[in-house]
Amino acid sequence: MSARGSSNGRLAVFVASRFIEPVRRAIAEAFDAVFAETSEPLAELARSERVFDAIFFSLDVRMGADRIAALPPGIRALATYSVGLDHVDLEAARSRGLAVFNTPGVLGDSVAENAIFLMLGAARRATEAIGMLREGRWTGWMPDQLVGVQLGGRTLGILGMGDIGRRVAARARAFGMSILYCNRRPLSEADAAGAGYRPTPEALVADSDVLLVACPSTSETRGLVDEALLAHARPGLILVNIARGDIVRDDALVAALREGRLQGAGLDVFAGEPRVHPGYLELPNVFMMPHVGSATVEARMGMGRILIEALLAWQAGGRPPNQVA
Ligand code: GLV
Repeated sequence: MSARGSSNGRLAVFVASRFIEPVRRAIAEAFDAVFAETSEPLAELARSERVFDAIFFSLDVRMGADRIAALPPGIRALATYSVGLDHVDLEAARSRGLAVFNTPGVLGDSVAENAIFLMLGAARRATEAIGMLREGRWTGWMPDQLVGVQLGGRTLGILGMGDIGRRVAARARAFGMSILYCNRRPLSEADAAGAGYRPTPEALVADSDVLLVACPSTSETRGLVDEALLAHARPGLILVNIARGDIVRDDALVAALREGRLQGAGLDVFAGEPRVHPGYLELPNVFMMPHVGSATVEARMGMGRILIEALLAWQAGGRPPNQVA
Protein backbone atom coordinates (compact mmCIF):
# COMPACT_ATOMS: atom_id res chain seq x y z
CA MET A 1 0.00 0.00 0.00
CA SER A 2 1.28 3.44 -0.79
CA ALA A 3 1.70 5.98 2.02
CA ARG A 4 0.13 9.44 1.83
CA GLY A 5 2.97 11.83 1.11
CA SER A 6 2.61 14.11 4.10
CA SER A 7 1.84 11.48 6.75
CA ASN A 8 4.81 12.72 8.84
CA GLY A 9 3.83 16.36 8.37
CA ARG A 10 6.30 16.91 5.51
CA LEU A 11 5.23 17.40 1.94
CA ALA A 12 6.21 14.59 -0.41
CA VAL A 13 7.93 16.25 -3.35
CA PHE A 14 9.03 14.73 -6.64
CA VAL A 15 12.03 16.63 -8.03
CA ALA A 16 11.90 16.35 -11.80
CA SER A 17 14.80 18.62 -12.86
CA ARG A 18 18.50 18.72 -11.93
CA PHE A 19 19.50 21.44 -9.49
CA ILE A 20 22.80 22.64 -8.07
CA GLU A 21 23.88 20.73 -4.97
CA PRO A 22 22.97 23.34 -2.31
CA VAL A 23 19.46 23.60 -3.78
CA ARG A 24 19.12 19.81 -3.82
CA ARG A 25 20.22 19.74 -0.19
CA ALA A 26 17.75 22.46 0.80
CA ILE A 27 14.91 20.60 -0.93
CA ALA A 28 15.90 17.35 0.80
CA GLU A 29 15.97 19.12 4.19
CA ALA A 30 12.56 20.76 3.75
CA PHE A 31 10.58 17.89 2.23
CA ASP A 32 10.34 14.15 1.79
CA ALA A 33 11.99 14.45 -1.60
CA VAL A 34 12.58 11.93 -4.34
CA PHE A 35 14.96 13.04 -7.09
CA ALA A 36 14.40 11.87 -10.66
CA GLU A 37 17.20 9.69 -11.94
CA THR A 38 16.49 9.59 -15.66
CA SER A 39 15.82 12.01 -18.49
CA GLU A 40 12.15 10.94 -18.44
CA PRO A 41 11.16 12.25 -15.01
CA LEU A 42 7.40 12.24 -15.56
CA ALA A 43 7.52 8.60 -16.68
CA GLU A 44 9.45 7.84 -13.46
CA LEU A 45 6.81 9.69 -11.49
CA ALA A 46 4.03 7.71 -13.18
CA ARG A 47 5.79 4.42 -12.30
CA SER A 48 6.44 5.37 -8.69
CA GLU A 49 4.51 3.64 -5.90
CA ARG A 50 4.88 6.73 -3.72
CA VAL A 51 2.16 9.36 -3.45
CA PHE A 52 3.52 12.86 -3.99
CA ASP A 53 1.97 16.20 -3.09
CA ALA A 54 4.06 18.40 -5.35
CA ILE A 55 6.47 18.45 -8.27
CA PHE A 56 9.57 20.63 -8.28
CA PHE A 57 10.72 21.20 -11.87
CA SER A 58 12.05 23.75 -14.32
CA LEU A 59 11.93 24.83 -17.97
CA ASP A 60 13.28 21.47 -19.13
CA VAL A 61 10.02 19.77 -18.08
CA ARG A 62 7.08 21.03 -20.13
CA MET A 63 3.79 20.88 -18.25
CA GLY A 64 1.33 21.02 -21.10
CA ALA A 65 -2.36 20.19 -20.68
CA ASP A 66 -1.77 16.55 -21.69
CA ARG A 67 0.96 16.06 -19.08
CA ILE A 68 -1.04 17.81 -16.37
CA ALA A 69 -4.00 15.55 -17.15
CA ALA A 70 -1.73 12.49 -16.82
CA LEU A 71 -0.22 13.44 -13.43
CA PRO A 72 -0.86 11.04 -10.55
CA PRO A 73 -3.98 12.01 -8.59
CA GLY A 74 -2.12 12.92 -5.36
CA ILE A 75 -0.31 15.88 -6.94
CA ARG A 76 -1.70 19.17 -5.65
CA ALA A 77 1.07 21.65 -6.44
CA LEU A 78 3.57 22.49 -9.17
CA ALA A 79 6.67 24.47 -8.24
CA THR A 80 8.52 25.74 -11.31
CA TYR A 81 12.10 26.86 -10.84
CA SER A 82 11.70 29.73 -13.33
CA VAL A 83 10.08 33.11 -13.57
CA GLY A 84 8.68 32.28 -17.02
CA LEU A 85 5.50 30.24 -17.10
CA ASP A 86 5.13 29.55 -20.80
CA HIS A 87 6.05 25.87 -20.27
CA VAL A 88 3.12 25.42 -17.88
CA ASP A 89 -0.49 25.32 -19.04
CA LEU A 90 -1.90 27.44 -16.24
CA GLU A 91 -5.51 26.95 -17.35
CA ALA A 92 -5.09 23.17 -17.24
CA ALA A 93 -3.42 23.45 -13.82
CA ARG A 94 -6.24 25.66 -12.49
CA SER A 95 -8.96 23.42 -13.79
CA ARG A 96 -7.29 20.46 -12.04
CA GLY A 97 -7.15 22.50 -8.84
CA LEU A 98 -3.34 22.59 -8.74
CA ALA A 99 -1.46 25.36 -6.98
CA VAL A 100 1.41 26.73 -9.11
CA PHE A 101 4.46 28.65 -7.83
CA ASN A 102 7.30 30.39 -9.71
CA THR A 103 10.42 32.43 -8.90
CA PRO A 104 9.98 36.17 -9.59
CA GLY A 105 12.32 38.84 -8.23
CA VAL A 106 15.22 36.72 -7.00
CA LEU A 107 16.73 36.27 -10.48
CA GLY A 108 16.17 39.87 -11.62
CA ASP A 109 19.66 41.20 -10.95
CA SER A 110 21.30 38.20 -12.59
CA VAL A 111 19.15 38.48 -15.72
CA ALA A 112 19.67 42.26 -15.84
CA GLU A 113 23.45 41.81 -15.70
CA ASN A 114 23.20 39.33 -18.54
CA ALA A 115 21.16 41.84 -20.57
CA ILE A 116 23.93 44.42 -20.16
CA PHE A 117 26.50 41.77 -21.10
CA LEU A 118 24.56 40.95 -24.30
CA MET A 119 24.21 44.64 -25.17
CA LEU A 120 27.92 45.19 -24.72
CA GLY A 121 28.79 42.00 -26.58
CA ALA A 122 26.72 43.09 -29.58
CA ALA A 123 27.85 46.74 -29.42
CA ARG A 124 31.55 45.86 -29.13
CA ARG A 125 31.51 43.03 -31.71
CA ALA A 126 32.50 40.37 -29.22
CA THR A 127 31.78 37.40 -31.52
CA GLU A 128 34.17 38.70 -34.18
CA ALA A 129 36.77 39.66 -31.57
CA ILE A 130 36.75 36.30 -29.81
CA GLY A 131 36.95 34.46 -33.14
CA MET A 132 39.90 36.57 -34.26
CA LEU A 133 41.84 35.90 -31.05
CA ARG A 134 41.04 32.21 -30.71
CA GLU A 135 41.74 31.43 -34.36
CA GLY A 136 45.09 33.26 -34.33
CA ARG A 137 43.93 35.84 -36.88
CA TRP A 138 44.81 38.92 -34.79
CA THR A 139 47.71 40.70 -36.42
CA GLY A 140 47.97 43.57 -33.92
CA TRP A 141 46.29 46.86 -33.01
CA MET A 142 44.83 48.74 -35.96
CA PRO A 143 42.88 51.99 -35.85
CA ASP A 144 40.13 50.58 -38.07
CA GLN A 145 39.81 47.23 -36.32
CA LEU A 146 36.60 46.00 -34.68
CA VAL A 147 35.11 49.45 -34.33
CA GLY A 148 31.82 49.13 -32.48
CA VAL A 149 29.52 51.61 -30.82
CA GLN A 150 29.33 52.84 -27.23
CA LEU A 151 26.15 52.56 -25.19
CA GLY A 152 26.55 55.95 -23.47
CA GLY A 153 24.43 58.62 -25.16
CA ARG A 154 22.21 56.05 -26.88
CA THR A 155 18.58 55.21 -26.17
CA LEU A 156 17.48 51.89 -24.76
CA GLY A 157 13.91 50.88 -25.59
CA ILE A 158 12.50 48.23 -23.28
CA LEU A 159 9.66 46.13 -24.65
CA GLY A 160 7.98 44.92 -21.47
CA MET A 161 9.11 47.01 -18.52
CA GLY A 162 8.42 44.72 -15.57
CA ASP A 163 10.72 43.97 -12.65
CA ILE A 164 13.57 42.76 -14.89
CA GLY A 165 13.17 45.62 -17.37
CA ARG A 166 13.43 48.15 -14.53
CA ARG A 167 16.58 46.48 -13.23
CA VAL A 168 18.14 46.69 -16.70
CA ALA A 169 17.07 50.34 -16.95
CA ALA A 170 18.82 51.18 -13.66
CA ARG A 171 22.07 49.70 -14.97
CA ALA A 172 21.73 51.28 -18.41
CA ARG A 173 21.26 54.72 -16.84
CA ALA A 174 24.66 54.29 -15.20
CA PHE A 175 26.09 53.87 -18.71
CA GLY A 176 24.55 57.21 -19.69
CA MET A 177 21.70 55.72 -21.74
CA SER A 178 18.25 57.30 -22.00
CA ILE A 179 15.39 54.89 -21.31
CA LEU A 180 12.10 54.39 -23.15
CA TYR A 181 9.61 51.60 -22.60
CA CYS A 182 6.45 50.12 -24.03
CA ASN A 183 3.89 48.43 -21.78
CA ARG A 184 0.14 48.12 -22.14
CA ARG A 185 -0.16 50.97 -19.65
CA PRO A 186 2.30 53.60 -18.41
CA LEU A 187 4.05 52.82 -15.13
CA SER A 188 3.72 54.98 -12.03
CA GLU A 189 6.18 57.86 -11.95
CA ALA A 190 8.21 56.07 -9.26
CA ASP A 191 8.50 52.85 -11.28
CA ALA A 192 9.23 54.66 -14.55
CA ALA A 193 12.05 56.59 -12.83
CA GLY A 194 12.25 59.05 -15.71
CA ALA A 195 11.82 56.50 -18.54
CA GLY A 196 9.69 57.75 -21.44
CA TYR A 197 6.52 55.87 -22.39
CA ARG A 198 5.74 54.75 -25.93
CA PRO A 199 2.26 53.30 -26.38
CA THR A 200 3.14 50.92 -29.24
CA PRO A 201 6.09 48.65 -30.08
CA GLU A 202 6.40 50.53 -33.41
CA ALA A 203 6.83 53.89 -31.66
CA LEU A 204 9.35 52.31 -29.26
CA VAL A 205 11.45 50.75 -32.02
CA ALA A 206 11.43 53.98 -34.06
CA ASP A 207 12.97 55.91 -31.14
CA SER A 208 15.48 53.30 -29.84
CA ASP A 209 19.13 52.54 -30.55
CA VAL A 210 18.97 49.32 -28.52
CA LEU A 211 15.73 47.34 -28.29
CA LEU A 212 15.49 45.03 -25.29
CA VAL A 213 12.87 42.29 -25.45
CA ALA A 214 11.88 41.72 -21.82
CA CYS A 215 8.19 40.79 -21.97
CA PRO A 216 6.81 37.34 -21.19
CA SER A 217 5.93 35.01 -24.05
CA THR A 218 2.13 34.98 -24.33
CA SER A 219 -0.38 34.59 -27.14
CA GLU A 220 -0.14 38.39 -27.55
CA THR A 221 3.65 38.66 -27.72
CA ARG A 222 4.62 35.55 -29.70
CA GLY A 223 6.02 36.70 -33.04
CA LEU A 224 5.67 40.36 -32.04
CA VAL A 225 9.15 41.27 -33.27
CA ASP A 226 8.60 40.57 -36.95
CA GLU A 227 9.49 42.09 -40.29
CA ALA A 228 6.79 44.75 -40.00
CA LEU A 229 8.05 45.87 -36.58
CA LEU A 230 11.70 45.83 -37.63
CA ALA A 231 10.79 48.03 -40.60
CA HIS A 232 10.36 50.84 -38.03
CA ALA A 233 13.91 50.43 -36.72
CA ARG A 234 16.44 53.22 -36.85
CA PRO A 235 19.53 52.33 -38.92
CA GLY A 236 22.01 50.59 -36.65
CA LEU A 237 19.54 49.21 -34.09
CA ILE A 238 20.89 46.56 -31.72
CA LEU A 239 18.31 43.99 -30.63
CA VAL A 240 18.72 42.12 -27.35
CA ASN A 241 16.43 39.27 -26.29
CA ILE A 242 16.51 38.04 -22.70
CA ALA A 243 12.87 36.91 -22.56
CA ARG A 244 11.80 34.07 -24.86
CA GLY A 245 12.94 33.21 -28.36
CA ASP A 246 9.46 32.87 -29.82
CA ILE A 247 8.72 36.59 -29.33
CA VAL A 248 11.10 37.24 -32.23
CA ARG A 249 10.56 35.91 -35.76
CA ASP A 250 13.99 34.47 -36.49
CA ASP A 251 13.78 34.80 -40.28
CA ALA A 252 12.94 38.50 -40.01
CA LEU A 253 15.79 39.21 -37.58
CA VAL A 254 18.31 37.18 -39.58
CA ALA A 255 17.34 39.06 -42.77
CA ALA A 256 17.62 42.47 -41.08
CA LEU A 257 21.05 41.58 -39.64
CA ARG A 258 22.28 40.12 -42.89
CA GLU A 259 21.23 43.19 -44.86
CA GLY A 260 22.88 45.52 -42.33
CA ARG A 261 19.59 47.17 -41.36
CA LEU A 262 20.38 46.17 -37.78
CA GLN A 263 23.85 46.65 -36.32
CA GLY A 264 23.77 43.52 -34.22
CA ALA A 265 21.91 41.28 -31.83
CA GLY A 266 22.53 39.88 -28.37
CA LEU A 267 20.50 36.74 -27.79
CA ASP A 268 20.14 34.59 -24.68
CA VAL A 269 16.98 32.79 -25.75
CA PHE A 270 15.87 30.98 -28.90
CA ALA A 271 12.64 29.70 -30.40
CA GLY A 272 12.58 25.90 -30.08
CA GLU A 273 15.60 25.65 -27.72
CA PRO A 274 18.08 23.98 -27.83
CA ARG A 275 17.78 24.45 -31.58
CA VAL A 276 19.34 27.71 -32.78
CA HIS A 277 18.29 29.21 -36.13
CA PRO A 278 21.25 28.43 -38.44
CA GLY A 279 21.21 32.03 -39.72
CA TYR A 280 22.43 33.28 -36.32
CA LEU A 281 25.38 30.90 -36.34
CA GLU A 282 26.66 32.37 -39.60
CA LEU A 283 26.30 36.02 -38.60
CA PRO A 284 29.36 37.63 -36.95
CA ASN A 285 27.20 40.45 -35.57
CA VAL A 286 25.23 38.10 -33.32
CA PHE A 287 26.49 37.61 -29.76
CA MET A 288 24.80 34.60 -28.16
CA MET A 289 24.56 32.82 -24.85
CA PRO A 290 22.70 29.52 -24.26
CA HIS A 291 19.85 30.79 -22.03
CA VAL A 292 21.97 31.62 -18.98
CA GLY A 293 20.19 34.74 -17.68
CA SER A 294 19.57 33.30 -14.21
CA ALA A 295 22.66 31.08 -14.19
CA THR A 296 24.44 32.63 -11.22
CA VAL A 297 24.81 31.06 -7.79
CA GLU A 298 22.95 33.98 -6.25
CA ALA A 299 19.92 33.70 -8.51
CA ARG A 300 19.77 29.92 -8.48
CA MET A 301 20.00 29.80 -4.67
CA GLY A 302 17.30 32.46 -4.37
CA MET A 303 15.04 30.56 -6.76
CA GLY A 304 15.33 27.41 -4.64
CA ARG A 305 14.73 29.37 -1.44
CA ILE A 306 11.53 31.12 -2.52
CA LEU A 307 10.03 27.95 -3.98
CA ILE A 308 10.71 26.02 -0.77
CA GLU A 309 9.30 28.88 1.32
CA ALA A 310 6.24 29.06 -0.94
CA LEU A 311 5.48 25.35 -0.66
CA LEU A 312 5.86 25.47 3.11
CA ALA A 313 3.62 28.54 3.38
CA TRP A 314 1.02 26.92 1.11
CA GLN A 315 1.13 23.73 3.16
CA ALA A 316 0.40 25.85 6.25
CA GLY A 317 -2.68 27.29 4.52
CA GLY A 318 -1.21 30.54 3.25
CA ARG A 319 -1.07 32.07 -0.22
CA PRO A 320 2.53 33.11 -0.89
CA PRO A 321 3.15 36.06 -3.25
CA ASN A 322 4.72 33.80 -5.87
CA GLN A 323 1.63 31.61 -6.17
CA VAL A 324 0.35 32.15 -9.71
CA ALA A 325 -2.51 29.61 -9.70
C1 GLV B 1 14.26 31.60 -17.26
O1 GLV B 1 14.17 31.81 -18.43
C2 GLV B 1 13.14 31.71 -16.37
O2 GLV B 1 12.00 31.83 -16.83
O3 GLV B 1 13.38 31.66 -15.15
